[in-house]
Amino acid sequence: MTLNEIAKKMCAKGKGILAADESTGTIAKRFKSINVENIEKNRLYFRQTLFNSSAMKDFIGGVILFDETIRQKTTSGPSIPELISKHGAVPGIKVDKGAKPLAGSSDETVTEGLDGLRERLKEYYDLGARFTKWRAVYKISDKFPSAQSIKSNAHALARYAALVQEAKMVPIVEPEVLMDGSHNIDKCYQVTTNVLNECYNELEIHKVDLSGTVLKPNMVIPGAECKDKSNAEEIAKKTLECLKKNVPGDVPGIAFLSGGQSEIESSKNLNEINKINDSNFLITFSYGRGLQASALREFGKNQENTENIQKAFNHRAKMNGLSSKGEWSEELEKEFAA
Ligand code: 13P
Repeated sequence: MTLNEIAKKMCAKGKGILAADESTGTIAKRFKSINVENIEKNRLYFRQTLFNSSAMKDFIGGVILFDETIRQKTTSGPSIPELISKHGAVPGIKVDKGAKPLAGSSDETVTEGLDGLRERLKEYYDLGARFTKWRAVYKISDKFPSAQSIKSNAHALARYAALVQEAKMVPIVEPEVLMDGSHNIDKCYQVTTNVLNECYNELEIHKVDLSGTVLKPNMVIPGAECKDKSNAEEIAKKTLECLKKNVPGDVPGIAFLSGGQSEIESSKNLNEINKINDSNFLITFSYGRGLQASALREFGKNQENTENIQKAFNHRAKMNGLSSKGEWSEELEKEFAA
């Protein structure tokens, strides 16, 4: 398959990406919230339960894994990447080494992980990965994000993407403008515009073939502490406008992160965006919390209750599958939850 075909498969209409690549530190926070011990066996059990769900085949085009997970075998035999491929989804891998303090602007971060990346990519390809993820993080405040953070993160994203394509995998380019803060939606629009512009500028300099990439952006949304709440229509309109103006047309797929929105909000907003999507972009989800929060709660109640964990996951995957086509509604949400 060409990189363009893989990218389109990951974001195919009615499907999206499951971001199950929480690092050991991040999954520790998620497990703490449900009183589950953060040990390898529990991490494997939770994740293989999701990857064995019936929703995988119909609604999941790709799964992002963490280094530990891509090397694991399921308790029934096949490896995790084999299990994912069996459902027709593409296995992928997070390859960045996290957001680290940016020298010279230490309240901001730059994502690291380029050293030795070429060698790691070869190994991940051999383990079955066909796409990768690298996440840059930008904070909004009076003085942030600085030009330094915008430029250094875009440069790293572009060097990463070029190496990934050399290794015959699709890079997910994830510049995440955080929703922490009291800024309004217009400030988010402006910062997202600046961030996207710099990313595509660097991707061009580094000769990345955009037709073999997927963009994973934030939605254009007010800060979590902003008093002026926006409705889904406004979020959809501004998000789509921002993407149409700043993302080159040869990018085949755009898959949003949920970024701290609730499960319902992230489905509703994605649905509104697709209702008015008049671009050629395949627009879908690449959610972590937006797909897993309910399933995680069920896992916390009873780790053995596979049926309830999968039921919760199947429901969210189905709802977001509908949102990726603009066919979700609050009525369907209730009807299928019942
Ligand atoms: P959330 O959807 O929970 O924001 O996670 C997506 C992700 O992969 C962030 O890098």
